[in-house]
This record gives sequence, structure tokens and C-alpha cells, in this order.
Amino acid sequence: MNLIVTGGAGFIGSNFIFYYLDKHPDDKIICVDKLTYAGNLSTLEPIMDNPRFKFVKLDICDRENIYKLFNDEKPDIVINFAAESHVDRSIEDPEIFLRTNIIGTSVLMDACIKFGIKRYHQVSTDEVYGDLPIDRPDLFFTEQTPIHTSSPYSSSKASADLLVMAYNRTYNLPATISRCSNNYGPYHFPEKLIPLMIVNCLHDKPLPVYGEGKNIRDWLYVEDHCKAIDLIIRKGRVGEVYNVGGHNEMKNIDIVKLIVHELGKSEDLITFVKDRKGHDLRYAIDPTKIHDELGWYPETKFKDGIKLTIKWYLENKSWWEKIISGEYKNYYQKMYGER
Ligand code: NAD
Ligand code: DAU
Repeated sequence: MNLIVTGGAGFIGSNFIFYYLDKHPDDKIICVDKLTYAGNLSTLEPIMDNPRFKFVKLDICDRENIYKLFNDEKPDIVINFAAESHVDRSIEDPEIFLRTNIIGTSVLMDACIKFGIKRYHQVSTDEVYGDLPIDRPDLFFTEQTPIHTSSPYSSSKASADLLVMAYNRTYNLPATISRCSNNYGPYHFPEKLIPLMIVNCLHDKPLPVYGEGKNIRDWLYVEDHCKAIDLIIRKGRVGEVYNVGGHNEMKNIDIVKLIVHELGKSEDLITFVKDRKGHDLRYAIDPTKIHDELGWYPETKFKDGIKLTIKWYLENKSWWEKIISGEYKNYYQKMYGER
């Protein structure tokens, strides 16, 4: 089978490509990525010569060239990871989130209809459900939880989900959606909590915890997310949404302390800073549907996954040092300089 994977030079997309090429030796992947600040071609370096892999630098909003690519490559399956993905950036400047996350999704789906595909899969997020109260640990997001967004990022992802459902109903697009909780693991861009704290810790820089650090996220090792998507595109039912998460809720402050201890640093590095605007309190996925229907369950325990992740950042300094020495410096100053 021929797959088009968009956003494959980013965190989850690249992990998916590595996993998939290894698992399915007869399939080919064409990675489409615009290479924004978050896309990193060096991540894909090890597979650039693989005859079953091809990289195409392209914006998913570029209708003409997306159509041309679909015409040339005739993909069987399209998986859309491409997105602007950082909540803090969406609060500063929403427009690009609307363009890529909504218009880009519609262009891809139009191409799928025009050229015919077996499956379109939209990689969505648990953030479309909004948040849950911290003092109600009995509540979880199910696929029936109403969409109720908080940030421009989550609103753009929710808009894309609505479009996917509309294309499925109106044009019979054979589409599925996955809504996953927070991922962590190798190749995670150091603007996000876990890699940012690892990198700052290694430089003995302050660790900026928003508010009181009591917000809760439900962490999943990235490979478990990749396995879930692989199952959904093969066995998932068309027109369905699947929640993906591993019942691993943790307060931000506990994650930061764990990283500090793993790296043998002092908790004095922890600095409480101004809270994120509209900050979601708690995310918690109920993964019963994907477990019961597709047999998916998370295989990597957090205590192992976080060790693997820290080890990866220690062993791959050149990957993230290149990132933090460039434009990232301006980003960091703007977001944290006077926080
Ligand atoms: P990322 O920011 O690391 O990577 C995004 C990739 O998309 C980059 O390679 C970037 O260059 C590319 N891209 C951006 N705009 C593009 C455009 N217009 N055309 C083509 N390529 C473009 O993101 P990520 O964390 O890997 O997330 C991937 C997907 O998974 C996103 O859709 C995100 O909403 C979703 N998701 C992420 C998480 C998480 O914890 N990171 C959890 C659930 C869902
Ligand atoms: O839940 C899935 C979502 O998880 C994905 O859809 C998003 O693409 C992904 O970025 C992630 O969103 P979050 O906002 O949860 O992730 P982030 O790493 O930005 O923040 C995690 C928590 O840590 C959040 O409560 C904010 C807090 N935080 C974050 C940063 C970057 C801090 O306290 N300090 C920080 O410097």
C-alpha cells in the first residue's frame, strides 16, 4: 500500500513513519511536510535513502500541488498529522492555526475525494473536549463528550474534526478520527513541557511552571499512539472517532520534579510563572472503545517511558542543540523573558 503521511518531519509523524516502515515491509510512505519551525528534516535523515520512503516539501494548503501529488502517487491511505500544534503559540497568533489546521485539512480531503482513497485518517486531540475539573477524578472524556474548546489551537482542531465528519456524511469520504492525550518521547520539540524541562535542566536554567503546577495531563508514550493509529487505519470503522490514552494522569509539577530528580539537579531550579491564558485544568481519556473494539492498550509504562525519553535527549544532544541555538532563542525570550 501507498501512504501519504503529512507532518512527518514533526514529533509524532516522524515516530509514526519509523514505526510503520519497520512494521509493514511491503508498504511505501510519502511524507508531505512544509518544514515549519517544528519540522526537522534531520530527524528523517536515517530513512532518506530507503526506497520505500519519499520526502516532499509541501504545504497542505497548496491545493494545486497537493492535487498534483495525489495524481502522481495515487495513495491508498492518507494520515494527516500536519498541524500547528502548540497552544501557547496559538494564544499569541491564532491565524496560522486556522489556515493549516482547518483549510489544510479540507484541501487534503478534497484531494482524497477527487483521486479516490481507501482511508483518510485525521490525527486529532483530546483538547477538543475542553477540560475536566481537577476535583472530579471520576470524570473522563469519552467519544460522546461534547466538543467544548478553550484555545485557538483546540478550536482549530475541533473545526477540522467537524469537517471530517461532514465529509464522511456528505461525500462518503472513508474517514476516521483519533483523539489522543499528551504524547511524550523522542523528537519532541523543546517548546513542549517535557522536552523543555529536560533541556533547561541540563543547562541549569530556571524551570518555568505555569500557575501552581496543579494542572493535570494524561501522558502516553508516542509509540503507543503510533500503534493505535496503525490499528485504526486497518481495523477501525469508517465514520468513527477513537479516543486514545493510557490512564496516566499526572500534575505538571510532579512531572517537573521527576525530571529534576532523574537528572540529579536541584528543585531550586523550579520557578512558578504567570499562568497560561484559559489554561485547561485536567485532561483524562477513557480508552474503552479502542480497547474493546481494536484490542489496543498502552504498552509502555510512564516510569519506563520517561527514562527512555530522558536517555534519548542525553544521547541526541546535537538534535536539540541545533534547535535551541536558532530562532528558538527569540521564541523563548518572547514567551518567558518577562513572564
Ligand atoms: P509538531 O508540531 O511536532 O509537528 C507538526 C508537523 O507538521 C511539523 O513537521 C510541521 O513542519 C508540519 N506542518 C505544519 N504546518 C504544515 C503545513 N501547512 N503543511 C505541511 N506540513 C505542515 O506536532 P506533533 O506534536 O507531532 O503533533 C502531530 C499531530 O498530532 C497534530 O495534528 C496534533 O494536533 C496531534 N496531537 C498531538 C499531541 C501531542 O501531545 N503532541 C497529542 C494529540 C494529538
Ligand atoms: O492533549 C494533547 C495536546 O497536548 C496536543 O493536542 C498538543 O498538540 C500538545 O502540545 C499538548 O498540549 P498541552 O498544552 O497539554 O502541552 P504542553 O507541553 O504545551 O503543556 C503541558 C502542560 O504543562 C500544560 O498544563 C502547560 C504546562 N506548561 C507548559 C510549558 C511549555 C508549563 O507549566 N510550563 C511550560 O513551559
